[in-house]
Amino acid sequence: MSSSSQGADGLFISFEGIDGAGKSSHVQTLAQAFRAQGWAVTVTREPGGTPLAEKLRTLALGEPMDPLTEALLMFAARRDHLVRVIEPALARGEAVLCDRFTDATFAYQGSGRGFDLQVLAQLEAWVQRTPAGDLREPHLTLLFEIDPSIAAARLAGARVPDKFESQPVDFFSRVATGYALRVRQNPSRFARVDADQPREAVWTDVLAALRSRGWLT
Ligand code: TMP
Repeated sequence: MSSSSQGADGLFISFEGIDGAGKSSHVQTLAQAFRAQGWAVTVTREPGGTPLAEKLRTLALGEPMDPLTEALLMFAARRDHLVRVIEPALARGEAVLCDRFTDATFAYQGSGRGFDLQVLAQLEAWVQRTPAGDLREPHLTLLFEIDPSIAAARLAGARVPDKFESQPVDFFSRVATGYALRVRQNPSRFARVDADQPREAVWTDVLAALRSRGWLT
């Protein structure tokens, strides 16, 4: 069941931020809040979310490769994820909560790796074309913001780092700049959350962002 205000097109929310910002722990909590208000919810992630896209994730996060190969893998995984999971769930009127989406490609492969942002915009237009011919974008993107050196300290020793998590702080400063650029290009899509607060305070800000848009009461 979905909120009547979203009709058959569901509600698409993405979660973004540099590694160590703590976004992922809020995805499940927000899913529970939506379910408690009668929504059917799909919780998913990128790269990943389908058997094929999870295989591409293992490659993209584990193998060294040039930035174009990395960007193409991210978009290949995204296409499979959109076709098999995201579009069908939105067509059923569900809330789709996605841990990362295309802003991550602009921030990591674009600003982090220095890959051409205009090429990424072309790939975005091809890959995210909906069955109706529109560009599929999240209705809301929650951007968890934190100083890259604090995020690095949080990550240190937490688990064996993948290819991205083991990047230096400079890389994450560029990624954060990339996210800020995406916000400037489309401010109404984003809610910026100060992630350098106790978890409860971060959650309060997440809820406030949803409530101010009328999607949770
Ligand atoms: P996660 O650790 O939040 O699941 O994200 C996986 C890693 O993949 C994270 O370091 C960010 C990176 N990533 C990209 O570089 N480009 C992308 O398009 C996506 C979705 C993730």
